[in-house]
Amino acid sequence: MDAMSTQTTPRPTTRIDRLPPFPDGWYLVGTREDIERRKLIEKTWMGEEIVAWSDTEGRICVADAFCPHLGSHMGPTVGGRVRDGCLVCPFHGFTFDTTGQCVATPNAPAPRAAKLKVYETREILGLILAWWGAGGRQPQWDLPEEPHAGPKWSRVLTTTLRFRGHPQETTENSVDVEHLEYTHGYSNVRPTGMLIDGAYLRSAFDFTSVRRTLGLFDVVADVSAVAHVHGLGYSFVEIHEKGIGMHSRMWVLSTPVDGTHVELTLATQVHEIRRPGQFFKGLGFLPVSLRHRLMARLFIKEERRYVEQDVVIWDRKRYRSPPRLCRADGPIGKYRLYCRQFYPDLQLRVTPARRIGLAEAKEGPARESQA
Ligand code: FES
Ligand SMILES: [Fe+2]
Repeated sequence: MDAMSTQTTPRPTTRIDRLPPFPDGWYLVGTREDIERRKLIEKTWMGEEIVAWSDTEGRICVADAFCPHLGSHMGPTVGGRVRDGCLVCPFHGFTFDTTGQCVATPNAPAPRAAKLKVYETREILGLILAWWGAGGRQPQWDLPEEPHAGPKWSRVLTTTLRFRGHPQETTENSVDVEHLEYTHGYSNVRPTGMLIDGAYLRSAFDFTSVRRTLGLFDVVADVSAVAHVHGLGYSFVEIHEKGIGMHSRMWVLSTPVDGTHVELTLATQVHEIRRPGQFFKGLGFLPVSLRHRLMARLFIKEERRYVEQDVVIWDRKRYRSPPRLCRADGPIGKYRLYCRQFYPDLQLRVTPARRIGLAEAKEGPARESQA
């Protein structure tokens, strides 16, 4: 018997040791404020080079950065600019409106076929997100309505971190309540419910955190949080501090850059604080209209500090599939099933991506099947 015949043929495997880098979904491009201030932005987003600008009516266009004429990059670092609300290519001056259509060239009528590839966009309180679908797949679900934000809410503040990571791994934190205690030092962490409906996942939990505020005094916060996850690029967390009835919001927006790195933008907004009470004695001396703005500034710093604790882990971790879970891990298996739908190209290699209905989500602990 020769050596070759004793070898077993490797079985086809369905393991995914490395997650596909660009799951379908809505991903942050930038803020309206930033796009309007800089006139034209360029970035690497979902492995693509894109540009974004706004016309004079405030319509924002997110488009492929390469000109359909002879292929110049049209970002500002190459010389692209916005004139009268239109993007002008630095190479021969083809001009594009916010639908992506070429509307003028310097010396000839605009060719009708000259059209930019544009991405479908949504805006939520000044956060501009665009749809990315594998192979040009059209949007498979929509983002939720913009949450109400009148004058009683502070303006939305943002901060961005960039590291080696993946949006499935960052979003997994929403259901990984165990890490809240271990990585972040929260106590009394209690999951209060999880629900999956199509591309939507809700994860609720309570916890107690002790914050050292302004480096001066410890504040014990008794918190209820509800994370609304709409795909892997958009998570919206409602936070209620029960001691003084303070409401705040946090967005966690994870955007793949180049297949290796993600940009994680945190955005926060705090509701007017009527009775700061024991929570922040100093706040009582401030006018009501200033309290929540000050809190928003403190919050965004604090949140960034907490997320930096996660980044240390994310930056060096490896995706484990299947993970060897313990009983305390809760719904990580269900979460990973939920994630399947965002990788339509994997349908033939693994269990077909499914829409996971409420009934399934309520069943006993789901086990991840060799994903
Ligand atoms: S390459 Fe853009 S105008 Fe020619
Ligand atoms: Fe975390």
